[in-house]
Amino acid sequence: MSQQVHREMNLLEILEGLNVEIREQELLKDYTTLKIGGMVRYMVVPEDVQTATEVVKRLRESSVDFFVLGGGSNLLVPDSGIECVVLLLRGLKNIQILGQAPSVVVYAESGVALQGLVSLAMKQGLSGLEGLVGIPGSLGGAVFGNAGAFGYEIMNVVEEIDILRKGSRMVIKKEDLSYGYRDGGLLEGDVILSTRLRLEVTEPERIKRKMIEYLNIKKQTQPLDEPSAGCVFKNPPGESAGRLIDLAGCKGLTKGDIQVSTKHANFFVNKGQGRAEDFIALMDEVRERVLRIFSIELEPEIRILTKGCTSK
Ligand code: EPU
Repeated sequence: MSQQVHREMNLLEILEGLNVEIREQELLKDYTTLKIGGMVRYMVVPEDVQTATEVVKRLRESSVDFFVLGGGSNLLVPDSGIECVVLLLRGLKNIQILGQAPSVVVYAESGVALQGLVSLAMKQGLSGLEGLVGIPGSLGGAVFGNAGAFGYEIMNVVEEIDILRKGSRMVIKKEDLSYGYRDGGLLEGDVILSTRLRLEVTEPERIKRKMIEYLNIKKQTQPLDEPSAGCVFKNPPGESAGRLIDLAGCKGLTKGDIQVSTKHANFFVNKGQGRAEDFIALMDEVRERVLRIFSIELEPEIRILTKGCTSK
């Protein structure tokens, strides 16, 4: 029996008896906002927290490598696909509002779309997420990477996170995490199941006004209508990566179908059949130009996945 066939039988056996959907031969470009990414052999899609916990436990016990996929909005996947199993957490989407004014706790599961949560907060008059309007992806991904904009960061409103770490389930309080800019302070390999966020009760109209204002700024300054992975590089301390890339003359620079956006230089957009290989080549060229001109080394903000499923 070939190793491949052996592995295939194994996965089905490992997950036997669990009420879990297994998708086969999925093209990952269909799961990323950049519309880039090759094939994965197996994608496991649990529908609730308990099943997800059991899936992770069994995969770990059987030493099956897996990658947790959220909204795929900050991610570059190789053109040749990946070799591990993908654990897609989009089925974990319960939300509960607990407590009363002046502040409430919102329990939200990992697969909740960040924008679903943002619009719920707007309708219910819950303040704290205004600056996150328009950011794609899932709540789990947003927490893992401490997503933010306009001075807001999701970790500012997080109280605690329910995770699986090395097979054990644990609740981590915010004060026990050393989170920072675009970093939720969790470890590589942690699986976020749900998060509790504290939001302040206020007038829905006030929240709506702010969100409309932020969204208008985003529409004017960012290429929201083209496939991208958001900002490619982190802002160096006290600087804007977009400004530096722009000043280095990189706007419009193109490799294959990947282009440095002419609207905001820290966004690389996919003009059609963009490839990860071209994306990386463009990142290298932009980084080199910025280094040469400003002596500043840009660091990626996006997660770059390897075929073997480690991420850089
Ligand atoms: N700028 C240019 N050219 C450009 C882009 C920007 O000159 O091509 C200038 C702007 O004119 C402005 C300054 O650079 O004077 C800063 O630009 P902007 O306000 O767009 O903010 P940013 O630092 O580029 C950050 C976040 C964005 C977030 C915005 C709004 C990072 C890497 N970027 O961008 O987050 O939406 O602020 O708050 O932290 C993301 O994380 O994926 C992201 C897009």
